[in-house]
Amino acid sequence: MRKTLVAANWKMHGTKAFAEQLLVELNTGLESGECSSQVVICPPYPYLGVVAGKIGQAVMLGAQNLSEQPSGAYTGEVSAEMLLDFGARYAIVGHSERRSLYGENNELVAAKYAAAKGAGLIPILCVGESLEEREAGKTLEVVAEQIQAVVALGLPDTWQNAVIAYEPVWAIGTGKTATPEQAQEVHQFIRQQLGEAGSKTQILYGGSVKAANAAELFAKPDIDGALVGGASLKAEEFIQICCAAN
Ligand code: PGA
Repeated sequence: MRKTLVAANWKMHGTKAFAEQLLVELNTGLESGECSSQVVICPPYPYLGVVAGKIGQAVMLGAQNLSEQPSGAYTGEVSAEMLLDFGARYAIVGHSERRSLYGENNELVAAKYAAAKGAGLIPILCVGESLEEREAGKTLEVVAEQIQAVVALGLPDTWQNAVIAYEPVWAIGTGKTATPEQAQEVHQFIRQQLGEAGSKTQILYGGSVKAANAAELFAKPDIDGALVGGASLKAEEFIQICCAAN
């Protein structure tokens, strides 16, 4: 049985004080509640240490990105080892904002996936189509290409200790959520793409997940949780999402 996982992507929001306060509220809410989900918080890089220092029993630490390189003259980059050093266990790779704003293509995203896995971090691989691609009927084709770029590396146990997040680009930060049926269709397809490991791999949905729509998404058989942006910045709302799987 796959556990539900809810990951918070804070993106480039907040201050040190905000991060500390949010963590206190999340710890209190999640430790006293009956939430059965695993919870991962991915703060901006400079606040990894702050969050690591405040992290309670109910929360794990993740990063929003990482370098595909192990170390060296790569100004502004952060390696998997550095993230591990701060206690991170997860790293998001290939978020659509990285793909569209910073030119990360499938090959680079796959290299980041390999770097995370190789170092012992659990990658959260983001895949998803744009509105144009959906309207052109290319959703499954695009998602398959994103997955196949990782398969092509021929890593040992490619999908073991890994998480996939299906995030339709048109649903991110727009308030437009995919319907549970639309998401389920793609999640089921992704699971098939993963082969034998598919039945064990957590596949999250992302894109305008809120307390009001989380439960109906999590009720679908192939939706194992969520990657949450905007709603993860509000403690009460995020805790409700974490508990929506119960
Ligand atoms: P959103 O972001 O929940 O604000 O739509 C999701 C994401 O970008 O991971």
